[in-house]
Amino acid sequence: MRDIAARHGFAFGLAVQPRPLAGDPAYAAATAREAALLVPEGATKWWDLRPEEDRFDFAGIDAITAFAARHGQAVRGHTLVWHAAMRPWTLAALAEGPARAHRLLEVHLDGVLSHTAGAIRDWDVANEAVADPWNSGDLLKDSPWLRALGPSYLDLAFRLVRERDPTLTLTYNDYGCEHATAYDEEKRRRVLALARGMRDRGVPLDAVGLQGHLHRDLPFSAGTVRDFVRALRALDLRVLITELDVIEPEIHAPAGGLTPGPSIAPGPDAPDPADIAARDARAAARVHAFVSAVLEGGGDAVLAWGVADHHSWATRAQPAARPLPLDRDFRPKPMWHALAAAFAGQAWP
Ligand code: XIL
Repeated sequence: MRDIAARHGFAFGLAVQPRPLAGDPAYAAATAREAALLVPEGATKWWDLRPEEDRFDFAGIDAITAFAARHGQAVRGHTLVWHAAMRPWTLAALAEGPARAHRLLEVHLDGVLSHTAGAIRDWDVANEAVADPWNSGDLLKDSPWLRALGPSYLDLAFRLVRERDPTLTLTYNDYGCEHATAYDEEKRRRVLALARGMRDRGVPLDAVGLQGHLHRDLPFSAGTVRDFVRALRALDLRVLITELDVIEPEIHAPAGGLTPGPSIAPGPDAPDPADIAARDARAAARVHAFVSAVLEGGGDAVLAWGVADHHSWATRAQPAARPLPLDRDFRPKPMWHALAAAFAGQAWP
């Protein structure tokens, strides 16, 4: 896929984990073959990087950047500021107030950006900062960072990163902008308002990442997605898909949904969970429609959120799920071919 995407002027990438990269030759081979771009699924989150206040743990990200260097791949970082994936010590420190939080962020950025300089060229500076329309009328989501620093915490984070390394691409990343639902419509409006506000205030924002966790049975409109991407591009922002996968309705009824909010019931014409071909066809069609719309709107890169089905966060919740382009034997599924067609600007099926 890395070659197919590159041939058409796009980049394709994968979210990876250091352990299978080192321990599973098939996983490593698929990663080398498929991806021009890697993003750590967890290794550059606070949880992994900051086990204790006075200790940075770079083992995971170092393994990933070393692999990428060997295979001529670029690496994105994910994520410097997020409401989740922080240890109790971090949450306690943030709760001590603005001065402490500001210092904590500066120390984090100093440590992480100096260590990864040269190896990571693009950072999700902030992830999922916009509030979910179903539980808040505010633009920004409740978060330990918001509580500590107030609503200007995002501007601050982007400015501090740019000050430390003006050569980095600074990205804002979020979910919930993919579907034709009232939720997604309002979320798109908020993400656009956030991006426009940052641009107006002179905050250094270069790109917007659309996570692309596609809910297979939610309504979808290609035109709406394309127009949204165009609106971001009109603000002179790059747009990319950062976490592509297909979430099926709760085929094995696990506890709890994968994304925040109510879990999503199967659509009226949903395929039988036992009919794998029908499920794969449905997922492939949705991926083709979404990726084509983003690329037509001016997006330039796509990353899938995992190397193969059995390594996905979705299969941790639903063992029988088939969310990714490669199957459990690292073989291309219909979704892989649909993605290739989207990069080539071809129709599907
Ligand atoms: C998820 C990882 O995939 C899981 O392994 C982890 O337990 C929780 O985080 N949106 C994001 C990602 O931005 O960081 C999340 O990753 C998935 C949703």
